[in-house]
Amino acid sequence: MARAFRAPSGWHVSADTDLLPPRPLNGDDFVAARAVAEAWFGHPVGLTLHRLFFDQLGPGGVWIARADGSPAGFLLGMVSLSEPDLAYVHLHAVDPALRGQGVGAALYREFGRRAMGSGCTRIRALAAPQREGSIAFHRALGFDGPLVEGFLGPGEDRIVFERALPVP
Ligand SMILES: CC(C)(COP(=O)(O)OP(=O)(O)OC[C@H]1O[C@@H](n2cnc3c(N)ncnc32)[C@H](O)[C@@H]1OP(=O)(O)O)[C@@H](O)C(=O)NCCC(=O)NCCS
Repeated sequence: MARAFRAPSGWHVSADTDLLPPRPLNGDDFVAARAVAEAWFGHPVGLTLHRLFFDQLGPGGVWIARADGSPAGFLLGMVSLSEPDLAYVHLHAVDPALRGQGVGAALYREFGRRAMGSGCTRIRALAAPQREGSIAFHRALGFDGPLVEGFLGPGEDRIVFERALPVP
C-alpha cells in the first residue's frame, strides 16, 4: 500500500484525500476530538480525553487534519517532568477511514521530532493487553516492553512500551 507521509509537504493519503502537515494541538481542537473519539476508539474513552490536554498541554500534542479541516488523527502527549529525557504518549487515534496509510506513524514521528528538540531520547506509550491493533502498531514502530500487572490499578494491566528516539 502507498504510504502517506513521504515528505513534509504535498501529503496525499489517496487520490481524494489530502492531509495538512501535522501541527501542535490547541484548545479549540478539543470539541472536534471529543466528537469523533468514541467512534474512532470503538469504546468509551471518558475523561482520558480530558480538556486539559488541549488547553494546558496542547503544544505537546499533534493534530493532523484533512485539507477541508476535518480531523484525520491526533496524539496527546508531553515531555515528562519527572524524567526529562522521556516523551510520553497519553493516547492517539486515527480516523478509521484513513488507517493503514501511515497517519499514526506520522503522529509519532512528529511528536518524537519535537520532543527530541526538548532533549528527549526515548518515547513511552501504554497498551492494554487486549488492544491488539495498538500492540501491533507499537511493535511495528519498534517499541518493546513488559506487561505490568495492575499498572493502572486492579485488573488494569498494561504493556509499558518504549523505544529510543527518533521514531523511524
Ligand atoms: C493504532 C492506530 C492509531 C494506528 O493508526 P494507523 O494510521 O492505521 O497506523 P499506520 O498506518 O501509521 O501503521 C504503522 C504501522 O503499524 C502497523 N499497524 C497499524 N495498525 C495495525 C493493526 N491494527 N494490525 C496490525 N498492524 C498494524 C502498520 O501495518 C504499520 O506497519 P508497517 O510500517 O510495518 O507497515 C489506529 O488503528 C487507531 O486509531 N486505533 C484506535 C485507537 C487506538 O487504539 N489508539 C492507540 C492506543 S491510545
